[in-house]
Amino acid sequence: MRIGVLTGGGDCPGLNAVIRAVVRKGITEYGHEFVGYRNGWRGPLDNLTRPLDVSSVRGILPRGGTILGSSRTNPFKIEGGVEKITANLAEQGVDALVAIGGEDTLGVAAKLYDQGVQVVGVPKTIDNDLNATDYTFGFDTAVNIAMEAIDRLHTTAESHHRCLVVELMGRHAGWIALHAGMAGGANVILLPERQFDVEKVAAYVEKRFETEYSPIVVVAEGATPLTGQMVLQNQERDAFGHVRLGGIGQWLAEQVEERTGKESRTVVLGHIQRGGTPTAFDRVLATRFGLQAIDAVHDGDWGKMVALRGTDIVRAPLSEATAELKTVPIERYAEAEVFFG
Ligand code: F6P
Repeated sequence: MRIGVLTGGGDCPGLNAVIRAVVRKGITEYGHEFVGYRNGWRGPLDNLTRPLDVSSVRGILPRGGTILGSSRTNPFKIEGGVEKITANLAEQGVDALVAIGGEDTLGVAAKLYDQGVQVVGVPKTIDNDLNATDYTFGFDTAVNIAMEAIDRLHTTAESHHRCLVVELMGRHAGWIALHAGMAGGANVILLPERQFDVEKVAAYVEKRFETEYSPIVVVAEGATPLTGQMVLQNQERDAFGHVRLGGIGQWLAEQVEERTGKESRTVVLGHIQRGGTPTAFDRVLATRFGLQAIDAVHDGDWGKMVALRGTDIVRAPLSEATAELKTVPIERYAEAEVFFG
């Protein structure tokens, strides 16, 4: 079989580990042939390919990013896009696709499967908000990077008697903020799942200062205060329609400073959370996902994605991944000091 591999959406530590596992097992155990598609769905759309063999995946296990490149291209939003992809696959003699991506990429894979394309999906996102799997690779790396940043911020906050507000990624789900905040001993953790009361945050910060302690506030980029409390100046969208990072953290630090009279600073960790080498956990998970994905291809188990359930790697219908986002459930809020309105 000739198999195309692509990575779509925001990049994520562990993507290369998946590619390596798929290609190595696919060639050495099953004798398949591979073609790498560049830049997500843009690859099969415009026939952007690169060779993918055992030597081209050597040494990539610890490398962040993706050797295939990525994009947020959605062929269903492009006139004639789907027809172009199916024609290109036939022309290139590609029998099947392994699509590695998040909600959008897997959503496209699910729809292409409905149209007869032989496809298997691998879920990825640092946000850990995909429904069908207990964890996605990249999340553990992001949490560890954020935790280390929080550890470092504690010491400088204490030296200068400041409040430090750390803005972490997570537009719709607060998993990174919750886990990194807990692991780093943050005092306030604000999630997108529920609006927070800025007055309560300020009052809590003040209380912490009374005990000679310098508080750390973790805020997910998608967290919002109670309706009416915020006028966010920095909510313009970029040319791709994404809200710019760096809005809520800056706003919150200003509000805290204004209300408490305590000097406050903001750190927006941004894409550092997505860059660089994956943790051991993510390398293992990504490799296990890759091995299961190529087994699914070999079995002709189309329209499935691989998933972690407990400690097992299983296969689930692609449609499950995109049914709804997995947000932080309310029972988890009480595990950390999380403030609401
Ligand atoms: O989905 C992963 C993610 O890193 C989100 O946490 C973040 O909101 C978004 O991607 C940022 O996207 P971009 O890199 O396109 O700015």
